[in-house]
Amino acid sequence: MFDSKISYGKQCIDESDINEVVRVLKSDWLTQGPEVSNFENNLCKYFGSTNSVAVSNGTASLHLIAKASGWNVNDVIITSPISFLASINCAIYCGAVPEFADIDSKTYTIDPVKLEEKIFSLKKSGKNVKAVVAVDFAGNVCDWKFLKSLSEKYDFKLVNDFCHALGAEYYNDKQYAVKFAETVNMSFHPVKHITTGEGGAVLTDNTELAEKIKLLRTHGMTKDANLLEENHGSWYYEMIDLGFNYRITDFQCALGSNQLKKLDGYLINRRKIASAYDEAFSNIENITIPFVRPEVKHAYHLYPLLINFEKFNISRKELFEKLSGKNIFCQVHYIPIHLQPYYKNNYGFKKNDFPIAEDFYSKEISLPVYPTLTDSEVNYVIESLKSVLKI
Ligand SMILES: Cc1ncc(COP(=O)(O)O)c(C=O)c1O
Repeated sequence: MFDSKISYGKQCIDESDINEVVRVLKSDWLTQGPEVSNFENNLCKYFGSTNSVAVSNGTASLHLIAKASGWNVNDVIITSPISFLASINCAIYCGAVPEFADIDSKTYTIDPVKLEEKIFSLKKSGKNVKAVVAVDFAGNVCDWKFLKSLSEKYDFKLVNDFCHALGAEYYNDKQYAVKFAETVNMSFHPVKHITTGEGGAVLTDNTELAEKIKLLRTHGMTKDANLLEENHGSWYYEMIDLGFNYRITDFQCALGSNQLKKLDGYLINRRKIASAYDEAFSNIENITIPFVRPEVKHAYHLYPLLINFEKFNISRKELFEKLSGKNIFCQVHYIPIHLQPYYKNNYGFKKNDFPIAEDFYSKEISLPVYPTLTDSEVNYVIESLKSVLKI
């Protein structure tokens, strides 16, 4: 038994991170200083985008994408039911209509065939699909080639909710996200690949959109002489759109830049942990390890293991209780969004609307994955799970 809690995810902070934050705390700028654009430049370099806008969290970045892209009451936005709520709440913030397409039963990402069926039926009833928020769930990569062909065929925009997939590769390319989606959303919450405490970013090669997002990040205010109606002096600003305060601080961005330097190392550890789980749980009847297509290198933000609980004569609740008794705290990602009371009550979604997502939810547990998880902790998780399941 390990004394320390083993949870499904955890930040990884070392002395260099602490030193960077302290350095900025002692500087002239706590917010809106040089570290924000420095972090943005570092994100552009690593992920190959022309622009990046760092913001206060990943929900804010989705909201800004939605607002800057002009989503409104006449638009339908589609995502996967297996994601965090923020992936589709951003549509509702703009008055747009939320919709879902079921997941692929192997990759757990949005199924492009189901997506096309959904778009087809929506178009037939006169509805306009403005955008699809495809989620590289758990760090596995969507079928972006197929999604891109659909976006061209049916004329909608692609958003990559990339919060789980920093460092994932598609056809040996870590910079695939902006090549397929017009906008890419990131979160730097502590359980994610890199952290700024709270934080997020938008990546895009569309410079006009990036400028809009920057404006909306800070109340729609500008001092840009080219945009002003009048100019009364150096203090003068104008509000030219209705924006928000979604700014991130300089000390958070200094932390983000330092964390980004370590991302490749973190990925090595995450993949090593995943391959230990793969080895332990592959070829066990009624257990399914994550499936990764040959063109994909998974980033393992999560390690979703599917267990047919009935066959092991145990409920998931019991399993969680037994594991927590051993100081192991798994999670479930995710409760299908369409089954949330808000979505059922306001949009009429119901059970069996997305059967593959619902079946996935009934079986999923997320095993602990984070870079500082030691080999002996990984073995302890494996042995504990096997003993509870009586394998
Ligand atoms: C897929 C996905 N999208 C969006 C978000 C929202 O990010 P944040 O928590 O930084 O607001 C998260 C965070 O959990 C997420 O996992």
